[in-house]
Amino acid sequence: MNDAHPTPAGDCTFVIFGATGDLARRKLLPALINLAGRRALPDRFMVLAVGRTPMSDEAYRENIARGVSEFCPPTTDPAAWTWLGPRVFYAFETLDTPASYESVGHRLDALEGGPAHRAGRLFYLATPPDAMADIVLQLGAAGLLKEAPDAWRRVVLEKPFGRDLASALELNRQLALELAETQIYRIDHYLGKETVQNIMALRFGNGLFEPVWNRRYIDHVQITVAETVGVEDRGGYYDRSGALRDMVQNHLFQLLALTAMEPPISLSAEAVRNERVKVLHAIPAFTEASVRSDVVRGQYGPGTSGGSPVQGYRSEPKVQPASATETYLALRLSIDNWRFAGVPFYLRTGKRLPARVSEIAIQFNRPPLHLYQEAGAVAGAAEPNLLLVRIQPSEGISLQFQAKIPGGEVRLGTVTMAFNYADYFARTPETGYETLLEDCMTGDQTLFHRADMVTAGWRAVAPILDIVGAQPDALLHAYPAGSWGPAAADALVTRDGRSWRRPEP
Ligand code: BG6
Repeated sequence: MNDAHPTPAGDCTFVIFGATGDLARRKLLPALINLAGRRALPDRFMVLAVGRTPMSDEAYRENIARGVSEFCPPTTDPAAWTWLGPRVFYAFETLDTPASYESVGHRLDALEGGPAHRAGRLFYLATPPDAMADIVLQLGAAGLLKEAPDAWRRVVLEKPFGRDLASALELNRQLALELAETQIYRIDHYLGKETVQNIMALRFGNGLFEPVWNRRYIDHVQITVAETVGVEDRGGYYDRSGALRDMVQNHLFQLLALTAMEPPISLSAEAVRNERVKVLHAIPAFTEASVRSDVVRGQYGPGTSGGSPVQGYRSEPKVQPASATETYLALRLSIDNWRFAGVPFYLRTGKRLPARVSEIAIQFNRPPLHLYQEAGAVAGAAEPNLLLVRIQPSEGISLQFQAKIPGGEVRLGTVTMAFNYADYFARTPETGYETLLEDCMTGDQTLFHRADMVTAGWRAVAPILDIVGAQPDALLHAYPAGSWGPAAADALVTRDGRSWRRPEP
């Protein structure tokens, strides 16, 4: 989970399925290069990249080397690739027959120094989601998931984990045929972000915040993940997914869980995950009526982004011309537990919004007596305290409160006390995958989704999916690219007498 982690014990082979894809080139290999630069990989470390394009080891290495300048930060130590490059091998496999998996097995044995040699193996499935269960079943059938002392076997799965409750349950069932839950690493790159991990440090590493972190003091919480980009070249995937599946059920729910969870009894993976999952279980089931009143879907039309005109979602490549997929989703929910009953949580995410900002805004109750208003004070007298956890960009935490404006008159103004990560900690820019990959290799599952978390997330959104499944344009509103989403989403908060924040980039 952090830099204090030990280097993975023993030999380790990192096997990537889908090695010629974007994820491997843009994130996985650059992250491994950064880990090599930090000397965080064991001496006997190897990568076997498995792909469906015929290629030699040398050609694959050249391909990756070309991406180093593009996808690794400029601070990357050139010696890191010199160390890692010769440890990267390529296997051309179609992965559609048992023989193909046996051949992967033979290649692994040969690279590691014979079948009797003990090495941990991490199988990273950077493959289309519908291929995952089959790959795991075939790996199992080929005997490649059997563990022995010093020969652990782990599988990393990229999201999405199913596309609804039924498919997620089925995927978990199939994984469980070949793997113990301790061997399954369902990755959520949001949990790898330092500032996301810092939510727990803020809450449980300080004595100040926890006492006021509850319904007595908190008025409401807003969680925003706004992007300026559109769907780019991912229209084929996105049009079958949409913001609810792509962002809310996983990334936003994890931010929600970290914000609302109870203190864990320890920092062990199970203790932390037990508390996170309880939050998802405490989301009351949506009814048809509450879906209709508390959920707003949006889709961007033509507009502007960064000052330039951009096309609407339906004109993006590989998107259906009459698509009813949402690129924006806002919802209001509550957490029905002792701590948070009655406190609204407003969540929103969208593409083609005016700023790229991810933040959690915790708004506290106003003072019980408006003494300053009574005294005739004006500006800002009723502004509530706001604790803002900024996840990206300009990572940090700020607290907004009232102060007296100097002068004879009694007037209050809003001031901010701010902590910026960059002011305190030197950070090397990274891909965001380093911590997560290191955790998979050292066997720390804290930052990964457990099977029950995935199903709890799907269960919470199932009524929304049901309604949209039956009527694809249900709750769907257009918004111009470059705006803060559909007006209907404003109504979601204004009817409670509140308003959305307009975060600065
Ligand atoms: C991914 C989604 O999981 O997260 C993308 O599939 C989204 O649609 C991305 O753009 C956002 O991640 P980040 O780290 O840029 O906020």
